[in-house]
Amino acid sequence: MKFPILTPEEAAELFFNDAKCGFSGFTAPGSPKVVTQAIAAKAEKLHAQGEPFKINIITGASTSDNCDGVLARANAIGKRTPYQNHPDLRKRINSHDAHYFDLHLSEAAQKLRYGFFGDKLDLAIIEVSDIQDDGTVVVGTGVGNVPTIAKMADKIIIELNEKLRHALYGLHDIYLPLDPPHRTEIPIFKPSDRIGSPVLKLDPEKIVGVVMSDHYEGVKAFTPLDDTTKQIGANVCKFLMSELHAGRIPASFLPLQSGVGNVANAVLYGLADAKEIPPFEMYTEVMQDAVIDLMKKGRCKFGSSCSLTVSNEVEDEVIDNIEFFKEHLVLRPSEISNNPEVIRRLGVIAMNTALEADIFGNINSTHVTGTRMMNGIGGSGDFTRNAYISIFSCPSITKEGKISNIVPMVSHVDHTEHSVDIIVTDQGIADLRGLDPVERAHVIIDNCAHPIYRELLRDYLKLSTHGGQTPHTLHASLAFHTEFLASGDMRNVDWSKFA
Ligand code: COA
Repeated sequence: MKFPILTPEEAAELFFNDAKCGFSGFTAPGSPKVVTQAIAAKAEKLHAQGEPFKINIITGASTSDNCDGVLARANAIGKRTPYQNHPDLRKRINSHDAHYFDLHLSEAAQKLRYGFFGDKLDLAIIEVSDIQDDGTVVVGTGVGNVPTIAKMADKIIIELNEKLRHALYGLHDIYLPLDPPHRTEIPIFKPSDRIGSPVLKLDPEKIVGVVMSDHYEGVKAFTPLDDTTKQIGANVCKFLMSELHAGRIPASFLPLQSGVGNVANAVLYGLADAKEIPPFEMYTEVMQDAVIDLMKKGRCKFGSSCSLTVSNEVEDEVIDNIEFFKEHLVLRPSEISNNPEVIRRLGVIAMNTALEADIFGNINSTHVTGTRMMNGIGGSGDFTRNAYISIFSCPSITKEGKISNIVPMVSHVDHTEHSVDIIVTDQGIADLRGLDPVERAHVIIDNCAHPIYRELLRDYLKLSTHGGQTPHTLHASLAFHTEFLASGDMRNVDWSKFA
């Protein structure tokens, strides 16, 4: 089946002010790369003429500079969901130029199908690695919400990315669940189970044309491991090994999920050396560089993911050795990679990163000092809430100690105390299982807070001993944050002002 070839500019002409658009991809991989640049140029031209032009976008998760970056700089994003992580889009969101609503990633597709965000999408851009003779497509290295976006869109533009060398057939498992009341079980009983199709079937009537591209995915480089991130990784491994020895994790081990960012990457590198942990499987949403390394070393036996969130160098390596990787990994839509039913069934051990944790075990993953959006909740809630064991890690201090990542009360809550089993920092491990709030506070302060903040945190608890199951002094509970905003250093908190 042949579709017309379009230039990026011809495709961009189809986009109009306030259009509702769905983009393929997940954490840069699989997201559009060339039409979005032409849309941004069109927006800039229209804005210069005094014309309004913004589009509303649903994606799988974050995208790259070629998508969120260019569109944010052109102020061409009206509304955006779910996860993002681009500094220019972050600025637009925090200045209210772009309206952002954050969702659990497993829920975005079904909420779109349920009509919660309107009854259809006007346009979709879907990156593919190949178009088959029968018109079905092999998607790229990030799947996201592509089956639902294709279903809901009136018109579809395909971006065929030649950088993927037509090599990915057999890597994906594309599955679209039925909606209630007809939904049945998602029949995944081990990470390697395949339940769908290697290709995505598109309605040929909807396909406007194909735009050629030849771009890497644009995954941001990780900060090199430092002593702090290495120590966090070592502490997570120490915890996993102690659970294994205690028999609370079966000897054959359980599938791991690992979150995004530098700390998560460091934890995975720690697993390479933790030889007491047997070779394991992953049921996760992103495969970062570290997992590819673990697969080559035989440490990771199999990975189920939504995307291959790897650097350019590792992307080339995967494609050069694609037959090996097809045996070791599968890419699924996010509502399946992050499916609560499957996560609970498989007994996934969830390892995510926090911006801050409070002494009672609540987690803030998204809002800096409670107001400024960092990235979004991503899949951390999908995994944390349904995990066999949920682990959060973060450094004990940030910005040379001016910020304590352990605070009296988090300034924004993404994960409540009920969903958090273990907190790990460079200082140590706090095992919160079976503890009441005051017991948790002591364990977190003693094991996870940095020594420069321990007395301040203990003094907060003393200040609050006047009762209540969770003993807060409400007017002092955010004093770490207000002090940081006032003097630039949380260490300057003076509890006598609150006594
Ligand atoms: N207050 C203010 N700033 C803080 C902070 C705090 N408590 N904690 C960290 N920061 C800053 C760091 O200083 C750093 O800033 P910089 O870029 O100016 O250096 C930035 O936040 C990122 O910190 P870093 O330690 O490098 O974290 P990371 O790359 O490991 O990312 C999250 C951490 C929480 C932002 C990231 O994991 C995330 O977005 N998580 C939510 C989504 C998620 O968990 N998805 C996974 C599901 S599979």
